[in-house]
Amino acid sequence: MKTYRIALLPGDGIGPEVVGGARRVLEAVADRADLDFRYEVAAVGGAAIDAYGSPLPAPTLELCRFCDAVLLGAVGGPQWSDPSASVRPEQGLLSLRRELGLFANLRPIPVFPELQGLIPLRPEVLAGVDLLVVRELTGGLYFGPRKEQGADSDAWDTLLYCEAEVERVARVAFTAARGRRRRVTSVDKANVLASMRLWRRVVERVASEFPDVELEHRLVDSCAMDLVRQPAGIDVLLAGNLFGDILSDLAAVLAGSLGLLPSASLGEGSLGLYEPVHGSAPDLAELGVANPVAAVLSSAMLLRHSLDLDDEARDVEIAVSAALATHRTADVAAAGETAIGTSEMIDAILHQLDHPAPIPSRAGQGK
Ligand code: IPM
Ligand code: MN
Repeated sequence: MKTYRIALLPGDGIGPEVVGGARRVLEAVADRADLDFRYEVAAVGGAAIDAYGSPLPAPTLELCRFCDAVLLGAVGGPQWSDPSASVRPEQGLLSLRRELGLFANLRPIPVFPELQGLIPLRPEVLAGVDLLVVRELTGGLYFGPRKEQGADSDAWDTLLYCEAEVERVARVAFTAARGRRRRVTSVDKANVLASMRLWRRVVERVASEFPDVELEHRLVDSCAMDLVRQPAGIDVLLAGNLFGDILSDLAAVLAGSLGLLPSASLGEGSLGLYEPVHGSAPDLAELGVANPVAAVLSSAMLLRHSLDLDDEARDVEIAVSAALATHRTADVAAAGETAIGTSEMIDAILHQLDHPAPIPSRAGQGK
């Protein structure tokens, strides 16, 4: 029996609930495929600040390095957001990404035909949408030199990219495009920012290694408009850290809810960090109502990218899609429809996993 070690980092807010749900799905997958998944639970974010005084305690980082994959819930909450605090929950997540060298963040936008009625865009705009955001994750404005305000009247962050950082994430985007519609839309602000002119030059150079993939450049401002005006024209959207952060939340509109979007953060090896794109939603915490789909689809990406279990990943995606046809948490329920809770949604997914629907519809396109 093959053994895999999976680190579970529930974090804050709804994190523990959605990670708990995703764990039930992973357990079912392991049972069906006769695999041995060993789970190791560790603290991150605000929960880790409270318990250890650090948002990424050393044992948590060590554990992640030792595992085959990491599934994280969410970090942050009002009790830790005092602007003058010396440590913040988000630092835990950022350090984890950086320490594990996870420079490429894949955020597929899952399209569920059953949910199209909830999306505030016309059906003809949504037709043919199939989008993967590739976000650079360990550089850019998030990690450049910075100065906190302190006693001064200014504070600053620096948008800095070096060629090697752009090159490696661009390669991930072009490689992904090869398994899709062979089109990369690179987002920048090259008309204003020097770092973004470097970004564009390097992406062009990488594109020359992929003559079978079409490259186009778009400025981030007009790209934001195109994302909701003509989203079907975009296949792989390649962006730097901050632009990718913003545009992926915008792209969530195309899925119907932020509660549906999974992500995979990858580096050079097979170790990856998988987490919902959504945050900790403190207002929903402990109510048992959070949508676990983003965490479950993140687990599917974990199966695919870190454990090389592509069939199992696809089974989970199909089960999610089938479950959503009839079962909805509050964020995706239509007006007047009764919403179910987190654990009922997991029950529905597990039921579909055991009784696959005859006609599978499309779920998250994780490649
Ligand atoms: C995300 C989140 C994080 C980010 C925060 C929590 C640090 O918004 O994963 O998109 O900005 O990267
Ligand atoms: Mn974000």
